[in-house]
Amino acid sequence: MQKHLYTCFAFLIFLAIGLLSRENRRHEQLPTATGANTVPLQRTDSFSTSTPQYEVINGTEVVWEVPSKPKFVLFVAHGCNHGAVDFWPKSEACPLCQGLPIEMNITRHALARGYAVVAVSSAARDTHRCWNLPHMHRPDYPNDTENVKRVFDVLFPRAGLLGLPVFALGASSGGGFVMALGGEIPLAGICSQIMGLPMKLMQIVLETSKRRGLKYPPTILMHMPRDNDIALLVQENVLALKEHGTVVKVIQVTASPLTPSFLGEVVGSEINAPLSTLIFGEFRSSGIIGNDGMLKEDPRMTDWRAIVMNLNGTSHLRLQPDSSPLSEILNVLYAKHEIVSWHTMETLQIFEENEASSTSIAN
Ligand SMILES: *[C@@H]1O[C@H](CO)[C@@H](O)[C@H](O)[C@H]1NC(C)=O
Ligand SMILES: *[C@@H]1O[C@H](CO)[C@@H](O)[C@H](O)[C@H]1NC(C)=O
Ligand SMILES: *[C@@H]1O[C@H](CO)[C@@H](O)[C@H](O)[C@H]1NC(C)=O
Ligand SMILES: *[C@@H]1O[C@H](CO)[C@@H](O)[C@H](O)[C@H]1NC(C)=O
Repeated sequence: MQKHLYTCFAFLIFLAIGLLSRENRRHEQLPTATGANTVPLQRTDSFSTSTPQYEVINGTEVVWEVPSKPKFVLFVAHGCNHGAVDFWPKSEACPLCQGLPIEMNITRHALARGYAVVAVSSAARDTHRCWNLPHMHRPDYPNDTENVKRVFDVLFPRAGLLGLPVFALGASSGGGFVMALGGEIPLAGICSQIMGLPMKLMQIVLETSKRRGLKYPPTILMHMPRDNDIALLVQENVLALKEHGTVVKVIQVTASPLTPSFLGEVVGSEINAPLSTLIFGEFRSSGIIGNDGMLKEDPRMTDWRAIVMNLNGTSHLRLQPDSSPLSEILNVLYAKHEIVSWHTMETLQIFEENEASSTSIAN
């Protein structure tokens, strides 16, 4: 990722595609037998009572759920290669859902706190699945901003969500999208994970928001400092947002160790306690992790999958990049570039504490 791309809006696309092709390289080495159809329908935790709605609203895929007495709306925007179906487990209510642990953890905690969760899929379903950000000047692509607005217009009255504060949380490409969306529609708060906007775009977004009479919402920039390029963008964005008078909070996510029981705890539906210990042991003896449990190298670059596939009792595991719980967890532990849910409660708390300051929307 070259620095000179910063001046170009194409930066975000390059970034997204770069991450994508790294994943794809691993993709090619995988047998196709690790089908998602062997995944148990529901996790064994309290989330199994969840009843999301899956629907396609004017061509746009939406999965949503409203808790009893909703107080807020949380719009969630996935990263490249992902979709709205990642935020809930596969179930009778949502057979197309393919729940990933971090996304589901975000959904679960938001619902419990009184947020209606509305996940929308980007339009580019057949290709990279990245979001088409406003002002990116790609008129040949479908307009994700228009699609999301239409979904809100159709869904909110029907689901009893009209008038509730709308917060937006996105990761990677979705993080860039929710930041840019803040210049298009009234939002009560934004959390952009592992993404910042190139400065030119950030300025245009803030100018657009002003021109529309919107107060740019309080913003949480949650990033992984191990990714220098994004860390730099975040630094610049913080200055621009503060100068604009926006409340901004930075949350840094750093690497954490794997422990023998960890996988069993967070992806219990696929990895039981004995398998969790077994995988930990193999990662330890093969040097994927060190004495301290820390991943030695970027798991997007190492061949940990071969180690896992050689173990008995792992044929049911989803191992494809972007649809593998284990892969997602390892990426979080390495803390370079992945959606993250350690700080979901803190995020929602910050949203609620600062929401009042965002209600003075001029119109
Ligand atoms: C959705 O699509 C239908 C038919 O394609 C159209 O009549 C309707 O106006 C659209 N709804 C919105 C909110 O755009
Ligand atoms: C999509 O439509 C919005 C207006 O709703 C506009 O601001 C934006 O620039 C358009 N283009 C893209 C790529 O989002
Ligand atoms: C896997 O299971 C087979 C048959 O149950 C057994 O022969 C083999 O030794 C096992 N391999 C490992 C690595 O445990
Ligand atoms: C799930 O979310 C909660 C609340 O933010 C957090 O305490 C927990 O660590 C998260 N789990 C994972 C694996 O991210």
